[in-house]
Amino acid sequence: MAIRRIARMGNPVLNQVATRVDDPTAPDVARLAGDMKDTLVDIGGSGIAAPQVYESVRLVVYRLTSRLAEDQEIAADPWTVMVNPELTPLGADTLTGWERCLSIPGLHGKVSRPARLRLVYTTLTGETVEREVDGAHATLLQHECDHLDGILYPMRMDDISKLEFDAEPGHLAADMAAGVKIWPVLRKLVEDWPGREQWMDRRAQE
Ligand code: NI
Repeated sequence: MAIRRIARMGNPVLNQVATRVDDPTAPDVARLAGDMKDTLVDIGGSGIAAPQVYESVRLVVYRLTSRLAEDQEIAADPWTVMVNPELTPLGADTLTGWERCLSIPGLHGKVSRPARLRLVYTTLTGETVEREVDGAHATLLQHECDHLDGILYPMRMDDISKLEFDAEPGHLAADMAAGVKIWPVLRKLVEDWPGREQWMDRRAQE
């Protein structure tokens, strides 16, 4: 097990379509998944795709934590390893939220994505898992699986003006002031923003 270096936006490995894993039960696949988990634990991340650690194969490791879905970080699910995951949107509903990416440090952006999906993947022991997902779970999975097709979240944005630095979260603060539900991990960016009061007060007066 090892902590891997993370490729950042601009590195060609992040723009490639990753290859399918022929044998999900192969020891080198489990080793790579272990490294990806170690890397997430080391940096406190929720999900990572193999291309982000310079391996262009269809492998994703993630876990849902309450800091994504609830008000406080009180619990985390076990880590999930997905080999050759496939997502199919169910219905036309979309969910709009703010996203960050380990390969785009220091920035966040507002993205709309299908709200409900069918997920199929293979486990490291070769079993096929099929389930339906929605909410924060659906958003996270689409973000991670996009990495397998060379897509980064800014490429999914309708309005590129909603891409901003974590240290200057003006649009995010405006959403918060307007009562939009923001995941706690992102709300903290606004709470830590020294300039927030003048801008949030100004919005309230407009
Ligand atoms: Ni990412």
